[in-house]
Amino acid sequence: MARIVVVSNRVSVPSGDGGARAGGLEVALRSFIKRNQGLWFGWSGKVAPKSDTAVRSVEHNGITYITTDLTRADYQEYYNGFANRMLWPILHYRLDLAEFSSRDLSGYMRVNDQFAEQLHKVLQPDDVIWVHDYHLIPLARALRERGHENRIGFFLHIPFPPPELLTAVPKHERLILSLCHYDLVGFQTERDADNFARYLSNECNMPRRDDRTFIAGQRTVRLGAFPVGVETAEFNRLARRAMKSEFVQEVLASLSGRAQIIGVDRLDYSKGLRLRMEAFERFLEASKHWHGGVTYLQITPRSRSDIREYAEMERRIGETVGRVNGHFGEASWTPIRYINRPYSRSALAGLYRASRAALVTPLRDGMNLVAKEFVASQDPEDPGVLILSRFAGAALECQSALLVNPYDPESVGASIGQALSMPLDERRGRHDELVRVLAANDIKYWGERFIASLTQSPGEWAASRAAA
Ligand code: ADP
Ligand code: F6P
Repeated sequence: MARIVVVSNRVSVPSGDGGARAGGLEVALRSFIKRNQGLWFGWSGKVAPKSDTAVRSVEHNGITYITTDLTRADYQEYYNGFANRMLWPILHYRLDLAEFSSRDLSGYMRVNDQFAEQLHKVLQPDDVIWVHDYHLIPLARALRERGHENRIGFFLHIPFPPPELLTAVPKHERLILSLCHYDLVGFQTERDADNFARYLSNECNMPRRDDRTFIAGQRTVRLGAFPVGVETAEFNRLARRAMKSEFVQEVLASLSGRAQIIGVDRLDYSKGLRLRMEAFERFLEASKHWHGGVTYLQITPRSRSDIREYAEMERRIGETVGRVNGHFGEASWTPIRYINRPYSRSALAGLYRASRAALVTPLRDGMNLVAKEFVASQDPEDPGVLILSRFAGAALECQSALLVNPYDPESVGASIGQALSMPLDERRGRHDELVRVLAANDIKYWGERFIASLTQSPGEWAASRAAA
């Protein structure tokens, strides 16, 4: 068995804190790496003063974690700058928020080069390399330039927009075409893979063998959809146990019999938080009989707070919470409980199970693991209802959720009413269908499917394409 080398901006080095950091990439990779061992390389999360960056290596349960610090300039230009002020908004269809700077682009390229240089010191010729997310698009090219002919795959955890939007990125060909140095480029959904295929065909006139195999000079690049799942049975077990915990019991007691609606998201503009709160406001306006009978708990740890758009959004969400609570609240009832801190997975699982509905209404999301975690945590005899944005990748699998348009607070408000009054048989029917789909795409199959596609011979790949 070849060694698997995982590379991502974030690395989840075991810290004994129960894994409370928010972010889908870390959650998915933690689950993959614990079954596969190997090496995990990326940023330590630390910003070093001056250029005093350290590289650390830690062994834990057969896995080697190698992390490197970033300098302040790297952090500003690569992470805050090009990755999160240019690529993140564009890939989430938000051209209006994208800000291009040549300096950020060169910082982004520089850090990718530094990562390649660090990896160059530890790579072995038969390692299978799996690179993750938009921070590291040019990494394969930087490795190829150093002579590495290993199998290298790339997985994008966030959406890939249609070429009509992507071409708004200055110098987009240089960046996007560097994806063709990977042997396999994976996406969350077929829609994202189609968008990339259209980019290669229509924008770059790249020849292809079939709709998922392109010929880029001497190389062949494969495309595929590998929707990330969750640990379905494990989440259910965690949730059952957590219901008996002091923490969840205290939360339930504080509700005094009220129904709870839950939202769990990083504080990010892609999550549609303000419109979601307005939807709850519309629901309260239209449903006087629910006043005092329902509490909306929104758990939202801060994310990327050094970026201006994130700080502004935080302020506006705070104002919206204040307005709704000020207008509808009573001395004995706070309609929205808004919390900016992370919780352990087990605490979240318990809170999901203790909720009658979940509001998962991103304006655009690659997948959205919270939606799947909520479903996996429910009691099948008395399940809560998932209200899910049609613009989350998860909506393609979760067709039995209440699918909503997050830009329309009126209709999301109506769906909240529908969820809270949904008869038990309908809740069970929808839940059974959702669990069936999630179990068939458990996270345990995700990494294996990706690595299998990456390491298939051309004949096996062609046969699997023909069968698809
Ligand atoms: P994203 O990757 O954009 O943050 P996802 O919904 O795909 O969105 O993944 C978020 C992950 O982070 C989920 O596994 C979720 O449980 C976790 N998470 C979100 N909020 C919190 C929180 N407050 N505490 C701990 N984990 C969180
Ligand atoms: O899943 C999308 C993602 O951007 C990951 O790449 C990232 O680790 C996570 O969200 C959290 O964001 P950040 O790493 O910027 O804190």
